[in-house]
Amino acid sequence: MTGAVHTTGAIAASAFLLPALGFAIGPIFEKHEQRWQPVGRPDEFPNDNYVPKVITISDGIGETGKSTVYIRKRNPALDTDKLPKGFEGEQFVAISSRCMHLGCPVRYTDAAQRFICPCHGGVYDFQGKVSGGPPVRPLDRFYNRVRNGQLEIGPRFSVNSQLRRFSPRDPGEPLDGIGQYLYPSRPSIRKLDKLPTE
Ligand code: FES
Repeated sequence: MTGAVHTTGAIAASAFLLPALGFAIGPIFEKHEQRWQPVGRPDEFPNDNYVPKVITISDGIGETGKSTVYIRKRNPALDTDKLPKGFEGEQFVAISSRCMHLGCPVRYTDAAQRFICPCHGGVYDFQGKVSGGPPVRPLDRFYNRVRNGQLEIGPRFSVNSQLRRFSPRDPGEPLDGIGQYLYPSRPSIRKLDKLPTE
Protein backbone atom coordinates (compact mmCIF):
# COMPACT_ATOMS: atom_id res chain seq x y z
CA MET A 1 0.00 0.00 0.00
CA THR A 2 2.80 2.43 1.00
CA GLY A 3 4.72 1.58 -2.16
CA ALA A 4 1.66 2.24 -4.31
CA VAL A 5 1.15 5.64 -2.67
CA HIS A 6 4.80 6.59 -3.19
CA THR A 7 4.68 5.47 -6.81
CA THR A 8 1.53 7.49 -7.46
CA GLY A 9 3.14 10.52 -5.76
CA ALA A 10 6.28 10.17 -7.87
CA ILE A 11 4.23 9.99 -11.07
CA ALA A 12 2.19 13.04 -10.05
CA ALA A 13 5.33 15.02 -9.13
CA SER A 14 7.13 14.14 -12.36
CA ALA A 15 4.07 15.26 -14.36
CA PHE A 16 4.87 18.88 -13.49
CA LEU A 17 8.59 18.66 -12.66
CA LEU A 18 9.76 17.12 -15.94
CA PRO A 19 8.15 19.73 -18.25
CA ALA A 20 9.53 22.50 -16.02
CA LEU A 21 13.01 20.95 -16.20
CA GLY A 22 12.70 20.63 -19.97
CA PHE A 23 11.84 24.30 -20.34
CA ALA A 24 14.72 25.28 -18.04
CA ILE A 25 17.55 23.32 -19.65
CA GLY A 26 16.20 22.78 -23.17
CA PRO A 27 17.67 26.04 -24.56
CA ILE A 28 21.17 24.79 -23.66
CA PHE A 29 20.88 22.21 -26.40
CA GLU A 30 19.41 24.50 -29.04
CA LYS A 31 21.37 24.78 -32.25
CA HIS A 32 21.84 28.28 -33.68
CA GLU A 33 22.78 28.38 -37.29
CA GLN A 34 25.38 30.93 -38.32
CA ARG A 35 24.96 32.16 -41.83
CA TRP A 36 25.07 35.30 -43.92
CA GLN A 37 22.03 36.52 -45.84
CA PRO A 38 22.21 39.03 -48.72
CA VAL A 39 19.76 41.95 -48.32
CA GLY A 40 20.64 44.31 -51.17
CA ARG A 41 23.25 46.52 -52.77
CA PRO A 42 25.27 48.67 -50.34
CA ASP A 43 24.16 51.90 -52.07
CA GLU A 44 20.51 51.16 -51.13
CA PHE A 45 21.20 52.19 -47.55
CA PRO A 46 21.64 55.87 -46.53
CA ASN A 47 23.33 56.94 -43.29
CA ASP A 48 20.51 59.19 -42.10
CA ASN A 49 17.56 56.79 -42.31
CA TYR A 50 16.82 53.09 -41.90
CA VAL A 51 15.76 50.70 -44.65
CA PRO A 52 13.74 47.70 -43.37
CA LYS A 53 14.68 44.27 -44.73
CA VAL A 54 13.31 40.84 -43.87
CA ILE A 55 15.71 38.03 -42.99
CA THR A 56 15.19 34.44 -41.87
CA ILE A 57 16.02 33.89 -38.21
CA SER A 58 14.81 30.26 -37.94
CA ASP A 59 14.60 27.90 -40.91
CA GLY A 60 11.74 25.52 -41.61
CA ILE A 61 8.90 27.41 -39.90
CA GLY A 62 7.84 29.70 -42.74
CA GLU A 63 6.86 33.31 -42.06
CA THR A 64 7.16 32.78 -38.30
CA GLY A 65 10.90 32.34 -38.69
CA LYS A 66 11.36 35.69 -40.43
CA SER A 67 12.17 39.02 -38.81
CA THR A 68 12.62 42.63 -39.87
CA VAL A 69 16.06 44.21 -39.62
CA TYR A 70 16.50 47.99 -39.88
CA ILE A 71 19.64 48.87 -41.79
CA ARG A 72 21.58 52.09 -42.45
CA LYS A 73 25.12 53.06 -43.35
CA ARG A 74 27.39 53.90 -40.43
CA ASN A 75 27.79 57.62 -39.79
CA PRO A 76 31.31 58.40 -38.46
CA ALA A 77 29.99 61.43 -36.55
CA LEU A 78 27.46 59.27 -34.69
CA ASP A 79 28.68 55.69 -34.73
CA THR A 80 31.79 55.86 -32.61
CA ASP A 81 31.41 52.41 -30.99
CA LYS A 82 34.51 50.24 -31.21
CA LEU A 83 34.37 47.62 -33.94
CA PRO A 84 35.59 44.13 -33.02
CA LYS A 85 38.69 42.47 -34.44
CA GLY A 86 37.99 41.16 -37.90
CA PHE A 87 35.12 43.62 -38.38
CA GLU A 88 37.06 46.90 -38.32
CA GLY A 89 35.74 47.64 -41.80
CA GLU A 90 32.08 47.11 -40.96
CA GLN A 91 30.20 49.84 -42.83
CA PHE A 92 26.58 49.38 -41.77
CA VAL A 93 24.37 49.30 -38.69
CA ALA A 94 21.77 46.50 -38.75
CA ILE A 95 19.27 46.74 -35.88
CA SER A 96 16.93 43.96 -34.73
CA SER A 97 13.21 44.74 -34.47
CA ARG A 98 12.80 42.59 -31.33
CA CYS A 99 12.01 44.73 -28.29
CA MET A 100 14.34 44.23 -25.34
CA HIS A 101 11.51 44.33 -22.84
CA LEU A 102 9.46 41.24 -23.75
CA GLY A 103 10.23 40.75 -27.43
CA CYS A 104 7.39 42.49 -29.31
CA PRO A 105 8.33 43.79 -32.78
CA VAL A 106 9.35 47.46 -32.72
CA ARG A 107 8.87 49.81 -35.65
CA TYR A 108 11.10 52.66 -36.82
CA THR A 109 9.27 55.97 -37.18
CA ASP A 110 11.10 58.29 -39.52
CA ALA A 111 9.31 61.47 -38.39
CA ALA A 112 10.39 60.96 -34.76
CA GLN A 113 13.66 59.18 -35.61
CA ARG A 114 12.73 56.65 -32.95
CA PHE A 115 12.00 52.93 -32.69
CA ILE A 116 8.62 52.50 -30.98
CA CYS A 117 7.27 49.34 -29.36
CA PRO A 118 3.46 49.05 -29.50
CA CYS A 119 3.17 46.67 -26.53
CA HIS A 120 4.17 48.65 -23.43
CA GLY A 121 5.43 51.96 -24.79
CA GLY A 122 9.14 51.16 -25.14
CA VAL A 123 11.00 53.89 -27.07
CA TYR A 124 14.52 53.70 -28.55
CA ASP A 125 16.52 56.53 -30.11
CA PHE A 126 18.03 56.66 -33.62
CA GLN A 127 20.88 54.35 -32.55
CA GLY A 128 18.53 51.88 -30.86
CA LYS A 129 19.42 53.02 -27.33
CA VAL A 130 16.59 53.06 -24.78
CA SER A 131 15.06 56.50 -24.41
CA GLY A 132 11.87 55.58 -22.56
CA GLY A 133 9.66 52.82 -21.20
CA PRO A 134 10.51 49.41 -19.72
CA PRO A 135 13.19 47.92 -22.11
CA VAL A 136 16.35 47.01 -20.19
CA ARG A 137 18.95 47.48 -22.91
CA PRO A 138 19.38 48.81 -26.48
CA LEU A 139 18.02 46.90 -29.46
CA ASP A 140 20.17 43.97 -30.60
CA ARG A 141 22.22 44.28 -33.76
CA PHE A 142 23.60 42.03 -36.49
CA TYR A 143 27.12 41.63 -37.82
CA ASN A 144 27.29 42.62 -41.47
CA ARG A 145 29.70 42.63 -44.37
CA VAL A 146 29.82 43.33 -48.12
CA ARG A 147 30.49 40.39 -50.43
CA ASN A 148 30.11 40.19 -54.20
CA GLY A 149 28.39 43.58 -54.36
CA GLN A 150 25.78 42.62 -51.75
CA LEU A 151 25.34 43.66 -48.14
CA GLU A 152 25.10 40.48 -46.05
CA ILE A 153 23.56 40.22 -42.60
CA GLY A 154 25.20 37.75 -40.22
CA PRO A 155 24.76 36.63 -36.61
CA ARG A 156 22.93 38.70 -34.00
CA PHE A 157 24.70 40.27 -31.03
CA SER A 158 23.52 42.25 -28.02
CA VAL A 159 24.83 45.62 -26.82
CA ASN A 160 24.92 47.51 -23.55
CA SER A 161 24.07 51.19 -23.15
CA GLN A 162 27.56 52.13 -24.46
CA LEU A 163 26.93 49.93 -27.53
CA ARG A 164 29.65 47.52 -26.41
CA ARG A 165 29.08 44.14 -28.05
CA PHE A 166 28.08 40.99 -26.15
CA SER A 167 26.99 37.51 -27.23
CA PRO A 168 23.26 37.48 -27.91
CA ARG A 169 20.99 37.61 -24.88
CA ASP A 170 17.23 37.25 -24.53
CA PRO A 171 14.81 40.17 -24.03
CA GLY A 172 14.60 41.32 -20.43
CA GLU A 173 18.28 40.64 -19.69
CA PRO A 174 20.23 43.83 -18.87
CA LEU A 175 23.89 44.17 -19.88
CA ASP A 176 24.99 47.13 -17.82
CA GLY A 177 26.73 46.87 -14.46
CA ILE A 178 26.10 43.63 -12.64
CA GLY A 179 23.50 42.62 -15.25
CA GLN A 180 26.20 41.35 -17.62
CA TYR A 181 27.26 38.80 -14.97
CA LEU A 182 23.76 37.89 -13.79
CA TYR A 183 22.65 37.06 -17.33
CA PRO A 184 25.46 35.15 -19.07
CA SER A 185 24.74 33.90 -22.57
CA ARG A 186 23.59 30.30 -22.98
CA PRO A 187 26.40 27.81 -23.70
CA SER A 188 24.84 27.01 -27.08
CA ILE A 189 24.67 30.68 -28.04
CA ARG A 190 28.20 31.47 -26.91
CA LYS A 191 29.47 29.70 -30.04
CA LEU A 192 28.33 32.75 -31.98
CA ASP A 193 31.41 34.53 -30.64
CA LYS A 194 33.28 32.50 -33.23
CA LEU A 195 31.91 34.06 -36.33
CA PRO A 196 31.92 32.31 -39.67
CA THR A 197 34.10 33.98 -42.24
CA GLU A 198 32.46 32.40 -45.28
S1 FES B 1 7.61 44.38 -25.31
FE1 FES B 1 8.28 46.33 -25.97
S2 FES B 1 7.83 47.64 -24.33
FE2 FES B 1 7.15 45.69 -23.65
